[in-house]
Amino acid sequence: MSSNVEVNNNVNNGEEQQLVCVTGAGGFIGSWVVKELLLRGYRVRGTARDPADSKNAHLLALEGAEERLSLCRADVLDVASLRAAFSGCHGVFHVASPVSNDPDLVPVAVEGTRNVMGAAADMGVRRVVFTSSYGAVHMNPNRSADAVLDETCWSDYDFCKETDNLYCCAKMMAEITATEEAAKRGLELAVVVPSMTMGPMLQQTLNFSSNHVARYLTGTKKTYPNAVAAYVDVRDVARAHVLVYERPEARGRYLCIGTVMHRAQLIQILKDLFPQYPVTAKYVRDYPPLIR
Ligand SMILES: NC(=O)c1ccc[n+]([C@@H]2O[C@H](COP(=O)([O-])OP(=O)(O)OC[C@H]3O[C@@H](n4cnc5c(N)ncnc54)[C@H](OP(=O)(O)O)[C@@H]3O)[C@@H](O)[C@H]2O)c1
Repeated sequence: MSSNVEVNNNVNNGEEQQLVCVTGAGGFIGSWVVKELLLRGYRVRGTARDPADSKNAHLLALEGAEERLSLCRADVLDVASLRAAFSGCHGVFHVASPVSNDPDLVPVAVEGTRNVMGAAADMGVRRVVFTSSYGAVHMNPNRSADAVLDETCWSDYDFCKETDNLYCCAKMMAEITATEEAAKRGLELAVVVPSMTMGPMLQQTLNFSSNHVARYLTGTKKTYPNAVAAYVDVRDVARAHVLVYERPEARGRYLCIGTVMHRAQLIQILKDLFPQYPVTAKYVRDYPPLIR
């Protein structure tokens, strides 16, 4: 990740700065999207189901927050709350989603996205950035292990369902819903598709992908599998959201991936960086050749 941050891209020669809304502002990625937008001079309205909860307090301490950030209560299943949140906004960053394989939460991701797109169109929002997931792209057992994946690739829905990867099902359906609703309602849509997202947390509570690392670091996960995963820095993910927002020609999907690593490499990096931690050491050799 480059250390150059383009500051104040959005300063409008004395005119009022653009107002944009970020759903799920207090989460891992949402917080970094808010931070990036504030750094670039936007006025930001962040949504949370309970803005007063201390888990969102870090947002108010961000640079520029005092002048240009407001938080409002919204649930993606409550259309009226979304309409209020999007009122007067040029753009919406729809980041909020349950990150879970709980079957009861699949409709929250999908219907929630339908509600967000509808409310955005109703309120005259021009451009939406939707946060999809690499889980909507790579889960396909019929593809060769050597295949290079790109923005045309989709996971196999039935395979995800059969293997209980309901989060991937939810993200696939939510992304398709966002795309269909955008076409129907005349909204401009750009989709950021991050892989497993790592990096510093602005929030206090451990989110799913940070726990992916923490459980190996602390040894609570006793073994690691013969598997590869794609990883990306959360600061690059946040910047990708703003870059696709700011470029009108950016439409459709943008994979956001930093590197692809075997789990053994991840474990080695953790051991090298944190020798004082009881990093998981045991490898489960479930099938012999090391997956590439
Ligand atoms: N982290 C990754 O590796 C990764 C990779 C690819 C894609 N993504 C996507 O990135 C987005 C953010 O994920 P994250 O990793 O930042 O997870 P996170 O920290 O758990 O954040 C999830 C956010 O969704 C909100 N949310 C959940 N249910 C909601 C509902 N019914 N109404 C309104 N908001 C709701 C939560 O808000 P509350 O404060 O109200 O609970 C929270 O802010 C998700 O769309 C996820 O699918 C994440």
